[in-house]
Amino acid sequence: MINIAILGFGVVGSGTAEVITKNRDVIKEKTNADITIKHILDLRDFPGSPYEALITHDFNEILNDSEIDIVVEAMGGAHPAYDFSKAALEAGKNVVTSNKLVVAQFGTELLEIAKKNGVRYLFEASVGGGIPIIKPMMTDLAQNRIDGVSGILNGTTNYILTQMSENGASFDEALKEAQAKGYAEADPTSDIEGHDAARKIVILAALAYGKLIAPNNIHCEGITKIDSKDVAFAEKLNGYSIKLIGHAEKADDKILAFVSPRLIPEANPLHDISDVFNGILVKCDMLGDAMFYGRGAGKLPTASAVVSDIIDIAIKSEMKAECAKWTDAEKDDIAPISNYVCAHYFRIEGCPKCMGKVFDDVESCISENGECAFITKPMTEADALASEKAFAENGIKVLSRIRVL
Ligand code: HSE
Repeated sequence: MINIAILGFGVVGSGTAEVITKNRDVIKEKTNADITIKHILDLRDFPGSPYEALITHDFNEILNDSEIDIVVEAMGGAHPAYDFSKAALEAGKNVVTSNKLVVAQFGTELLEIAKKNGVRYLFEASVGGGIPIIKPMMTDLAQNRIDGVSGILNGTTNYILTQMSENGASFDEALKEAQAKGYAEADPTSDIEGHDAARKIVILAALAYGKLIAPNNIHCEGITKIDSKDVAFAEKLNGYSIKLIGHAEKADDKILAFVSPRLIPEANPLHDISDVFNGILVKCDMLGDAMFYGRGAGKLPTASAVVSDIIDIAIKSEMKAECAKWTDAEKDDIAPISNYVCAHYFRIEGCPKCMGKVFDDVESCISENGECAFITKPMTEADALASEKAFAENGIKVLSRIRVL
């Protein structure tokens, strides 16, 4: 029997209890793991809940309970989630988390502490919600060099963009719905400004390239500047969709990682991923492209990933601890975005003639109501910025610039 304690009884914590309770027999039948929830830490009491008797307000009760094998950290936020995770690992308990903020900020230290104490720190639910992506990156794809990772990594923003483009919803309406469905972070700014996706792409980059970049050290743009006009123009220009993409690749032995809205060509498997779904495209040197797809947020999908880590620990408890391996990235490990090459979508105030003041050769262009949208040939970020400047010098306003994937 495996005894667990759950820290935080919000969306993910209560979902974890639900998955374990409802599917206890299925889990036991398939894996022999018999999981028992012994404590639930929360500030609240939950009178009348079937878990009422398990609620504690004192973390030390969990820390000092030698029968607890696994601590599930589902509190969210940096503190005290990090502090409790650290204390649990130091006390020789395995820790499973959905907390991408803690993994992205303190993952290197926590993995070292886990290793030192012969336990595991697992975080399948931290990226892609319910999609199995962490373990495949750690083991199933370990025989491949990773040429690049591109993913729709935030369910809330994908839900918003889908509602805006397919159902004509306003940004605010769609965000409210995403919050009501339990997709958004406590502070949804981190969803819409791309910070949540930034935490996730640095975790994937660390698994791919062995260095954890602090999320603040990568270029990060959210979706707040995307206008519904851009969505319409993109669709008319060859059927592109617009998605918030986290991207990582190796550039001259450094790691280039960034988050920004991208125009996705119809042929790309990320093109049609809508609503709360996430999709992660991993380019491998031996396998080729591998695509991971599923629900990227929400109570039971995220809890499903949490429970997969619990099962992994339960069935491998006799084996040596097996954790992700990375170190913190130094400044020199990180490539700047300025040399990144891709085509760019521009929307300018003017007509194709105005466009010709900076570009004489573009893929295609559409002109409507005094605005012109077009796609450039692939160019560096530095050249794209120089073009923006050249438009300004000619008195032409650039209304939007979005990278093409
Ligand atoms: N707020 C996150 C999202 C939750 O929308 O993707 C899952 O990490």
